[in-house]
Amino acid sequence: MEQDSGRLMKEAAGKAAVDALVKSGMKLGLGTGSTAIHAVRRVGELLAQGTLRDISAFATSFQTEIECEKLGIPAYTLNSKELAGGLDLTIDGADEVDPQNRLIKGGGGAMLIEKLAAYSSALFAVIVDESKIVQTLGTGFPVPVEVVPSARVQVVRVFEKLGASVILREALRKAGPVITEHGNIILDIRFSATVDPVAMETEINKTPGVVENGFFTGNIPVVYIAHANGTIETRGVK
Ligand code: 5RP
Repeated sequence: MEQDSGRLMKEAAGKAAVDALVKSGMKLGLGTGSTAIHAVRRVGELLAQGTLRDISAFATSFQTEIECEKLGIPAYTLNSKELAGGLDLTIDGADEVDPQNRLIKGGGGAMLIEKLAAYSSALFAVIVDESKIVQTLGTGFPVPVEVVPSARVQVVRVFEKLGASVILREALRKAGPVITEHGNIILDIRFSATVDPVAMETEINKTPGVVENGFFTGNIPVVYIAHANGTIETRGVK
């Protein structure tokens, strides 16, 4: 069970970002995970109050889609005429944030669609508690990589040559690997030495069989960081 202090920090970060950034009429990407869900709930609350109107949402996972259904947040596919492949704002969580606001995401296995949302958004906002702030990416929290199942062995070989150790993500309460919402597996890879996340985001995706990876360096977000003392720090907010 999540500690109350952790939940309160996640809730505070989600509320701060929604209250500051979400406006009526927006096309809004909604992220995935135990922090992002607080932003989704705050949007639902403001819609129910009538403070927000005409939100067209894009849910980045089954988890978020179901939460939107529960809260009556209208959600569409990115290809729909309502969204037409573009978003005004996406709010999402992250597993790690470095000093340049570059990220690792995909702890919840949703990085493929989360990246579609983040990279098609005019503004990207990340909400985290202070535990997610790091100095370098790639040697701590493993980088999740979504891979076509039939490419597993050869992709593992390529990643080992890049200097990473590789773990196949196992499912809980089902024997065998996690299967993503797109029928793929996830390899969690950790580098033994510091890497350039910008170069590595591109390099990993060159490997045949790789669908997407969890380095997010292509649309630098504004970041809302909740601290244990109750304050919210912002980074990159103008
Ligand atoms: C899911 C993600 C999440 O945003 C990330 O794992 C952070 O999750 P949480 O807020 O539960 O710690 O990228 O794919």
